Amino acid sequence: MIAIHYDEGNSYSIRWTAYCEDNNLPFKKVSCYDNDIMVQLEDCTVLMWHITNFNYKDQLFAKQLVKSLEHRNIKVFPDYATLWHYDDKVGQKYLLESIGAPLVDSFVFYDKIDALKWIETTSFPKVFKLRKGSGSKNVLLAKDRKHARKMVKKAFGKGFPTLDMKSILKERYRKYKLGKESFFGLVKGVLRLFIGTPFLNMTTNEKGYIYFQEFLPNNSFDLRVIVVGQRAFAHKRMVRKNDFRASGSGEAYFEKDEVDINCIKIALEVSHTLKLQSTAYDFIYDEENKPRIVEISYAFNPAPNRDRHPGYWDAKLNWHEEDVPFEDWMLEDLLEEVV
Ligand SMILES: Nc1ncnc2c1ncn2[C@@H]1O[C@H](COP(=O)(O)OP(=O)(O)O)[C@@H](O)[C@H]1O
Ligand SMILES: [Mg+2]
Repeated sequence: MIAIHYDEGNSYSIRWTAYCEDNNLPFKKVSCYDNDIMVQLEDCTVLMWHITNFNYKDQLFAKQLVKSLEHRNIKVFPDYATLWHYDDKVGQKYLLESIGAPLVDSFVFYDKIDALKWIETTSFPKVFKLRKGSGSKNVLLAKDRKHARKMVKKAFGKGFPTLDMKSILKERYRKYKLGKESFFGLVKGVLRLFIGTPFLNMTTNEKGYIYFQEFLPNNSFDLRVIVVGQRAFAHKRMVRKNDFRASGSGEAYFEKDEVDINCIKIALEVSHTLKLQSTAYDFIYDEENKPRIVEISYAFNPAPNRDRHPGYWDAKLNWHEEDVPFEDWMLEDLLEEVV
């Protein structure tokens, strides 16, 4: 029996359910938020759950539940190895450093004095990031020493809200002007300034650490490579005008010749080494024009990826000009482990 945590929104679970129906596979819908989830899973060998970074509930217990289910020999997507560093850029720093993956040079401090000392000795600009966040929402440029010191004070003082509703509204306005956001969306953004979002209101400020990355200039795009099992597909995302950030810009190119095969190679290798079920890699280039990983994430937004990729590369770097049904692959790979 396959358990699917069902969610009607923009979630993998819709395709997972359809796949089971089309292939006559026994499945049932469960809710991981229920207190009796262990009972609900009694007759199940597999759990599929699209855990998301913007749901405060998932952040509270998803990793703990997944780890516990592995002790019960239930196969889970995402499994713990795939999940534990999700929406945690600090965790990813250690993980990628541990295997010598080409992460952009990254610096983390858990002590105000140490951070301030480092600021006096290093060069600027640097990229400041919260460990959580997506769509470039919590990624900023620390322009100079003074700016970085101010960030350190905040990081070891009241901290940073997990969402900055003012810059989110600015981003909505930018997209509205480009015709990529509705007027209703804009009004919603203004309302959110006052009422926040469930995620913002239920999470505490990020504080007690500060995280920077070396700023790699002259990148007009980032390359997002997604690896599901050992199949890789990719697209290019352009940076916003007068900005250095691509993620969430809304401008992307999916043609095969937009993709640097070196990034595909690195992504397949890291996924293989770390036994990751599904991972999106963001690549940019350093001054020697070598690809560097900016961050990784087990999940990616399904809607903008649906039916956009012209094909995928396999583990041997053979190109397959075929559909890219990534949700089906997630489920098929897990079922293969059960049989
Ligand atoms: N160290 C860096 N140097 C230059 N640009 C960067 C760096 N890190 C991130 N970026 C840009 O900022 C964007 C957002 O950063 P990322 O770490 O991927 O955060 P998010 O989780 O919001 O996607 C990336 O898509 C990339 O274009
Ligand atoms: Mg990113």
